Amino acid sequence: MDAAAQPPLPGLVPTAGQQTAKVVEQVRMARDTYRLRLECPELARQIVPGQFFMIREQGGSDPLLGRPFALYDIVSNDDGDPIGVDFGYVVVGKLTSRMVDWQPGDSVDIWGPLGNGFPAPPAGHLVMVAGGIGQTPFLAVTREALGQRQYGSPPRGISTRPEKLTLCYGARSEEYLAGIDDFTTDGLQVRVSTDDGSHGHHGLVTDLLKDLFRDSPEPTAIYTCGPEPMMEAVAGIAAEHNTPCWASLETPMACGFGICFSCVTRIRLDDGQWDYRRTCVEGPVFRAEQLQW
Ligand SMILES: Cc1cc2nc3c(=O)[nH]c(=O)nc-3n(C[C@H](O)[C@H](O)[C@H](O)COP(=O)(O)OP(=O)(O)OC[C@H]3O[C@@H](n4cnc5c(N)ncnc54)[C@H](O)[C@@H]3O)c2cc1C
Ligand code: FES
Repeated sequence: MDAAAQPPLPGLVPTAGQQTAKVVEQVRMARDTYRLRLECPELARQIVPGQFFMIREQGGSDPLLGRPFALYDIVSNDDGDPIGVDFGYVVVGKLTSRMVDWQPGDSVDIWGPLGNGFPAPPAGHLVMVAGGIGQTPFLAVTREALGQRQYGSPPRGISTRPEKLTLCYGARSEEYLAGIDDFTTDGLQVRVSTDDGSHGHHGLVTDLLKDLFRDSPEPTAIYTCGPEPMMEAVAGIAAEHNTPCWASLETPMACGFGICFSCVTRIRLDDGQWDYRRTCVEGPVFRAEQLQW
């Protein structure tokens, strides 16, 4: 393993270390969407579902800043020891356009784990609502909730498990659906919607969530990630049913570990006022009712 661990970054995230990681493989998942596997055992040992890491090209200055990506899953060796991380990305701009050309053996800078992550899975019926590339944090959530994998160092103890687990996943069209095979596992029900009706329900992913509330058992908790208008709609449905909801924001970030304040979001306070919170440190996962959409 030649991922060179360096001292933790200065600042507010004592567990976050910067490392050089090697690209292990790159796989196309869907249109403009890829999965990258990086060799980085330190990070893989520590990270939990819903946390993220920052990635930057080595020696490059354009883009100068790293970019945040959520954990898709950790990768373990034959002995079960974590040795790397997978993340999924969609090509949107400067860095993601260049990532497509990364080859096995290339070195990249990576720092993490960053952010808070999703809470440990609750009992009852946990529903995950994903839009577009917002499905990526939910593979690790699923595997943890089903007891298929442990995360964190020491592994975080899971005292409850959901009796039912559902993923509602919406995409523009069938060709953008990414990772469906990964999510095909006993214990997880996957419901899909596409904007153009080319796969699954023809319409919005929030229609699927409304259907779930008509079915039984009702959701007892909702985790959501995707475009903000979608998450706001999900939060609204959750609020109508008094169902706890956590949203993972994809706010653009510069440092990722709390010092630049480029990632702030508005949070409602108990006294009815609002204040800013840094998505990279106090998030990216927030109680949806706290968010000032
Ligand atoms: C905590 C977190 C986790 C994330 N996880 C993933 C993931 O798992 N997979 C994934 O594909 N993406 C993820 N993202 C979004 C990802 O960071 C951006 O897509 C990436 O920074 C784009 O970099 P770029 O250099 O290719 O684009 P840029 O050249 O920086 O930007 C291209 C265009 O995209 C816009 N843009 C850039 N970032 C964002 C953003 N976060 N929200 C809205 N518009 C944006 C810019 O304004 C610009 O118009 C995550 C973001 C956060 C904050
Ligand atoms: S990205 Fe710098 S403070 Fe959050």
